[in-house]
Amino acid sequence: MRGPWRGRRRERGAAPDPYEDRAAPGPYEDGAALDPYEDGAAPGPYEDGADPDPYESVPDGDPPPPPPVVEFRGTGLTYPGPPAVRALRPCHFSVRPGEFVTVVGPSGSGKSTFLNVVGLLDAPTEGTYLLDGIDTGRLAEHERAALRGRRIGFVFQSFHLLPHRTAVENVQLAMVYRRVPRAERRERARTALARVGLAHRADALPTRLSGGERQRVAVARALVARPSLLLCDEPTGNLDTATAGEILRLLDELHGEGMTLLVITHDPAVAAHGSRTVSIRDGRLTETVRDREVPA
Ligand SMILES: Nc1ncnc2c1ncn2[C@@H]1O[C@H](COP(=O)(O)OP(=O)(O)OP(=O)(O)O)[C@@H](O)[C@H]1O
Ligand SMILES: [Mg+2]
Repeated sequence: MRGPWRGRRRERGAAPDPYEDRAAPGPYEDGAALDPYEDGAAPGPYEDGADPDPYESVPDGDPPPPPPVVEFRGTGLTYPGPPAVRALRPCHFSVRPGEFVTVVGPSGSGKSTFLNVVGLLDAPTEGTYLLDGIDTGRLAEHERAALRGRRIGFVFQSFHLLPHRTAVENVQLAMVYRRVPRAERRERARTALARVGLAHRADALPTRLSGGERQRVAVARALVARPSLLLCDEPTGNLDTATAGEILRLLDELHGEGMTLLVITHDPAVAAHGSRTVSIRDGRLTETVRDREVPA
């Protein structure tokens, strides 16, 4: 296994948890600073909140259209094994700002692997992956983590909330990589919870929330850092039909507000919510590049 997951036990096929590191003892213990940069640590490459933006220096005239949020160029991933598993065969794929793409495929076909690559949780072993026009292959691991924290929100089937933190604290943790003042973090976390209809449960522990409420906390956490992309892996997989419907309505609303979404599901009813659906079988993505136009 490569990258940050080296040496860690990960269940085969289980998604690594992008919020996991933030649960580590240390900066968050006893409710202290949630911001690793706050105590004078080096802010890394994104000083002043500026991300590297290849489309920034635009001459006069109309600005070019924004780059795709996701762009795969021959991107693939083979788990080294042994035996080696070609979990994602090299493919071309892109997602434009504001699209709602659903990804379907049978169990073991490579959906989570695909999502992990898109979400910068696993690095591809082949090809190039551009996120918001940024070539992620050129980034150091800490830069990838910072980019992930800023640009991507995650929602998983099993919620991945910290059990001993309240809803609002769980949401605040997602602002680790945004240099947001502490008071503002709490405010924004409460606003995000209000957005998902949970203002009244902000101070509850996840164990006191229903499944649907937990997932809404996870959605609030994913949104609070104002990501450019919301990635969901079977977001309704643990919910009954009525509660799943609630979460889907919320995703539809977010799409209506301009959010870019990539949602993995094995449920055709969920897939139908996407403005576009791609499928994966044996690691092969079947749709090839319908939205390839990159601004000249
Ligand atoms: N860390 C890993 N090391 C080696 N092989 C892996 C690893 N994670 C997944 N795989 C293999 O890669 C393939 C794709 O797995 P993946 O988890 O992406 O499937 P999936 O479509 O998400 O399945 P499900 O619907 O059951 O969640 C499977 O054959 C799986 O066994
Ligand atoms: Mg999966």
